[in-house]
Formats: sequence, C-alpha cells, structure tokens
Amino acid sequence: MSKLNYKQIISKMNNEGYCNTEFIINSKGNYTPEDSDWNYKDVPHLNIVHKNVEGLLAIVDDNFVGSINFLKIPYIGIALPLIFVNYEVSEYQQVYFSSFGPFMILVETVSEKSKSKTIVSSKFCILSKPIFKFLHIFIKKMVTKNNQVLMSEDIPMRERRYELRRVDHNFYNPNKTYSFQFTEEIFRANVFIQNDNNYVDISYSDIIDSSDGDILGKKSGILSFFVKEENGLKSIWPTTCPHEGAKMDKSCIVKSRILCPWHHRRIDRILDFKDEITNIIPSIDFCVEKFQDKIRIYYRNDPQYYNSKPYEIFRKN
Ligand code: FES
Ligand SMILES: [Fe+2]
Repeated sequence: MSKLNYKQIISKMNNEGYCNTEFIINSKGNYTPEDSDWNYKDVPHLNIVHKNVEGLLAIVDDNFVGSINFLKIPYIGIALPLIFVNYEVSEYQQVYFSSFGPFMILVETVSEKSKSKTIVSSKFCILSKPIFKFLHIFIKKMVTKNNQVLMSEDIPMRERRYELRRVDHNFYNPNKTYSFQFTEEIFRANVFIQNDNNYVDISYSDIIDSSDGDILGKKSGILSFFVKEENGLKSIWPTTCPHEGAKMDKSCIVKSRILCPWHHRRIDRILDFKDEITNIIPSIDFCVEKFQDKIRIYYRNDPQYYNSKPYEIFRKN
C-alpha cells in the first residue's frame, strides 16, 4: 500500500497552487503512546463518547478508515457532513484529512514517550487557493475549538487506561500498533492482569453486610466490584469493563444491565444476594465459586481466548 505523509501531501497541494497555514497543538499526559494510539484508532467510541460528532463509518480496515463525519461546527452550531480519511503512516503516527468548502484540513498526530508521560503533537495544516487565505484565521479558530472539545472527551479514556496499568493491568493487542478494525470487536476481553493472579476472595459476611455503592474485592481494576441495592435486593457488578477498561458504576446501568460508557457493550451483574447468595449469573469473562465462608471470583484473564468464536460461559473445572 502506498501512503503519502503529511509533508508530501502539503508539497503536492502547493504544486496545485494551494497555500497553507500550519499550527501545532501539543499535549502531555499521564498515559502511554499505546493508549493514545489506541484512542485515535478506536472506531466505536466516536459515536458514543464524542457529543459533537456522529460518524458514518464507510470503510474500516487495519490501517485506515474512511468515514462521513457529521461534525457540529463550533460557533455556528450546525452539523455538516465532512469526509474523513484517516490512516497510520508509521508507528504512533497518523494522518487524517478532510475538506470544508474551498478549504482542506490536514492533520498529523505523533505520540512519543517522555519519561513517564506521553507527548502528543498534532500538526494542523489549512490549505486553500490564495484568494481564500484571509479566512484561514477563522478556520484555525474552529479547528482549535473542535480539538479542545474532542481532547476533553478523549484524554480521560487514556488516563483511565494508565490508571489500570499502574495496578498491574495491561491491554492485549495482537499487532505492534493498533488496528482500526480490531477496535470494533467489543465482545473481546482485552484487559488482562499481568501477574496472572486472576481471582479474588470475598468473605460471605463482607458480601451480606455490604450496602449500595460499596466496593468489594480489589480496590480497583478488573477484580473490583460495586454493590447495587434496590428494593432490598442487592447485586454485585464489575467496576471495569473487560473489553478495554472503562470505569463503570451504578450510573451506567440501563434497563437492568450496564451499558459500557465507551463502546456500549452490555454487561450483566455477577451475582444477586439478600440474606444469602441467591443467584450467580453465568458470564464469558467471570466465574464465581462458592465456598462455606467466602466466594471466589475468577477473571478469565486470557485475551487470546477471544481470537476465535463461539465464546462460551467461563467455568472453572
Ligand atoms: S471498554 Fe469497550 S465496551 Fe467497555
Ligand atoms: Fe476520540
């Protein structure tokens, strides 16, 4: 596959008689380059996490996406259909471009590690025939504003993953960098615990005495669970989505199941209880074993299991 990089596109556009205005927006954050790479490639969050965009994904492949994005234009407030092409140029480096009337907008995003943080540098280039150059300043304002809104929604996702990395979690990715297409498989459990300690014990009394909002199991991560109490009935739910690690709580429950805030996977509770455990809910990711004075909750912790279907209920032998 042949690909033009940012500079090559500008040079070819200049040869066509287009002039350009460039600017850079840098951001530094507590996450890894893998987390920002994933976030930029993550197709399904677009229509869920971002409030000002609605994307019609026409083509999604490992290395590129072609979409029609209905983007709410800042200051004007109306949504316009913009054709977006987005592709990976090299490791942690992406190019995307679109056009808007007589203007073309080209962006290159590069993520680089800087000590324990990551610097994301986005180069923006507005191109048009010289006659429209006086309007570049307004386009720049709109693009900057739009970028601010997008980042305010994206950065918490990256930071959440970093939070999980700090408690020995990691994220499965079969390739060196993320594939756009891979991000669409929301029924996978890509979160894994690195130390292989894939279960937690919770005493029976801790369960029975718990109340709404309590956290059981580990303090955070995939083996941490929240309690929901309603009309005297209690249940235990995961606080972390097995797919890519979104944080979940009671507010994510819609029609008796969690609707994951990142990609809308539906996730069920682990068990129901009142004065005793009344119901254990079968799951592809979690398995519950009952002992006399405790329960043990296992997490499958095997992302490669989801490489082939059908997935089956997770049962310990
Ligand atoms: S993180 Fe993807 S569905 Fe929850
Ligand atoms: Fe995003």
